[in-house]
This record gives sequence, C-alpha cells and structure tokens, in this order.
Amino acid sequence: TFGRVNAQLYEKGVHAQFISSLSNPSTRLVNNITYAAVAIAGCASVISGWPTPLTVGQVQSFLSYANQYMKPFNEISAVVTQVQTAFASARRLLALMDAVEEEPDAPTAKALPAPRGELEMDHVCFSYTKDRPLLQDVCIHVPAGKRFALVGPTGCGKTTLINLLLRFYDVDGGTITLDGADTRGLTRQSLRSAFGMVLQETWLFEGTVRDNIAYGVPDATDEQVVAAARRAHAHKFIMQLPQGYQTLVGEGGGALSQGQRQLLCIARVMMCDPAVLLLDEATSSIDTRTELQVQDAFDRMMEGRTSLVVAHRLSTVRNADCIIVMRDGRVVEKGTHDELLATGGFYRDLYQSQFAR
Ligand SMILES: Nc1ncnc2c1ncn2[C@@H]1O[C@H](COP(=O)(O)OP(=O)(O)OP(=O)(O)O)[C@@H](O)[C@H]1O
Ligand SMILES: [Mg+2]
Repeated sequence: TFGRVNAQLYEKGVHAQFISSLSNPSTRLVNNITYAAVAIAGCASVISGWPTPLTVGQVQSFLSYANQYMKPFNEISAVVTQVQTAFASARRLLALMDAVEEEPDAPTAKALPAPRGELEMDHVCFSYTKDRPLLQDVCIHVPAGKRFALVGPTGCGKTTLINLLLRFYDVDGGTITLDGADTRGLTRQSLRSAFGMVLQETWLFEGTVRDNIAYGVPDATDEQVVAAARRAHAHKFIMQLPQGYQTLVGEGGGALSQGQRQLLCIARVMMCDPAVLLLDEATSSIDTRTELQVQDAFDRMMEGRTSLVVAHRLSTVRNADCIIVMRDGRVVEKGTHDELLATGGFYRDLYQSQFAR
C-alpha cells in the first residue's frame, strides 16, 4: 500500500511541478507573440502609411510601453506557485490562530490555600461535541480522606470525568465543587495544585529524568528525588540508564518503554503531597510484580487522603471505600465491593467476566 501511495505521490508531484513550471513560460510566450505582432504591424504602418501613418518614434515608444505593461504579468506568473503554497500554509496558520483559547480565570477567582479534598459532582452533564452527549446527570460525592474507585467499560467517560475535575474542560451542566467551592470560582493554578495524578496517557517533557520527577517540587533535593524514585520502583532502571538521573528524555519519552514512562510519572506524583490523588489506569503498563509493589506504595500514600482510582483490573479496586460503576456516561451503581456483588448488577457481570473462568 505504501509503495502504491508513494508512486501516486510521485506521479502527482511531477504533474504539479510540470503545470506550475508551465505558467511563466506560457505567459512570456503570449506576451512576446503580442510584442512581435505589435512590432510587425507598427513597421508596416511606418512603411506603407496604412491604416494610419506612424513615425518610427511612435512605434518605438509604443513598443516600450507595451513591454513595461507586460512585465508585471511575467513577474506574477513567476511567483504564482509560491503564492499558492503561501495560501495553503496561511490556512493552517489561521486555523491555529483561530483556535478557541482557554477561558481565563474569572477576575473574582479565589485560591484554595489548604484543600481538604472533599469532592462533589452534582448533576454533571458534559459532551465533547454538541451532537453526542457523553456524561449525563453524574452525581458523585467523595468525602475528604476516602478512597473511591471508578470502573466501567472502555469509552464510558471515566477519563472525561477526571478531565472535568481538573478543568481541562468545563461542564455543560451541573457543578463540581472542591471543599464546597465551585471549581469554576477557583484559580486553575490552585485547583490543579490540589491534585496529584497519574493519567492514562503518560507524558514526559524534554529534560533530564531528575527534572521530570521533580516537576511538582522544583526545589526538591536529590535525596528526595531518589526517595520518590525508590518508592515508585523506578530507581533500579534509572540507574541502568547511560547517565542515570541526568539522562535526557524527550517529549513522549524517547528511548523509554511505556512501563518505564509510567514509573517516572508515578515517581513524580510520589514527590508531591496533594490533597487528592487521581490515578487513571496508573499501573496498566507495568508488570504484575512491580505493580503489586507500586500498589503497596500507593496504598500507603492514599491513607487519609482523598483518592479516585480508575482501573480495569477490578482486583486492584476491591478494597475501595466506594466503587462507582459507570456505563455509557451514567453512574449505574455505587457501593462497596461486597455490596455490589450481593446486588448482582452490572458490576457483578464485569467482575465475573474477569474471574469466573
Ligand atoms: N478529546 C475528545 N474529543 C472528542 N471525543 C472524545 C475526546 N476524548 C474522548 N472522547 C470520547 O468520549 C468518550 C469517553 O472517553 P473516555 O476517555 O472518557 O473513556 P474512558 O471511560 O476513560 O475509557 P477507557 O477505559 O478506554 O480509558 C469516548 O467515546 C471517546 O471517543
Ligand atoms: Mg480512560
């Protein structure tokens, strides 16, 4: 397929070059034919005096004006391809410049100095595109210090819910509050600093491993960084990198494996002391043994801290204070693991599909 598409591109490329190279010579050709015709007709008039008698000077100046008149056309046709390329580029630039900007914080927005971590979502509705409603009437109350889990089939809106908590998007209806304050009335900076998160999509920035881990605590000491890496079980692989903690990693993670990137993100959150911990499939890419160890570190971190954990492997959320089961953008069940199993609803189906066999 690649070969075929490539051959097509080659053919079109040659064609496009040919056509665009043609425009300038053809304009010149037409102009020069006109020039010759004017010269011949002018000479004939001078010699024969028909249809009007002309002097050599008149013909001469006429030819010179005709030449000046043609010149800009020749020049435009020489750059017409460049002009078209510029238009194509301008379209992309304008699309970027027209992109909707993040709504600035309201002038009255307040900072939350010491968040306790009580989260409440009240009748939240949200959709990415107007014609496809996603979250509908979601009500979740997470008391401070509790451990909540969010489970549900792929695409039911779990990550979306987390995006809304962090105000990457604003809700279409309903409210989200942190410690009783509407999140839209808080500055983004203070809202986001209340959360520590490991998201489904791991992200690293251009910089050293150390800088990536210390992202949330810029003035951290080397000891703190190493301690966090040890708790995340990332220390061992970092020491095997060519320059250890000073190894440069690129955007997207460079030469690191998916699981290693995830461990760095976990170490990053272990550095901070956030009021709320959000884990969206935080350990999905690491091996089971390391996962158990990291889980252990998370368990210690979650003690007395509000946390919201998204997981597909239901064994990892069994001991949550409350499990919220979502389906197609709605909360369908709530309760502890045992309660949900006893009710025999959608959660039990999910659970059994993982363990029955
Ligand atoms: N940026 C976006 N723009 C438009 N639609 C999106 C966007 N992000 C997600 N969606 C859609 O929203 C729906 C919910 O996505 P979401 O990422 O919340 O699912 P999820 O429950 O986290 O799934 P998973 O278990 O696979 O992580 C999906 O149908 C997805 O196609
Ligand atoms: Mg998700």
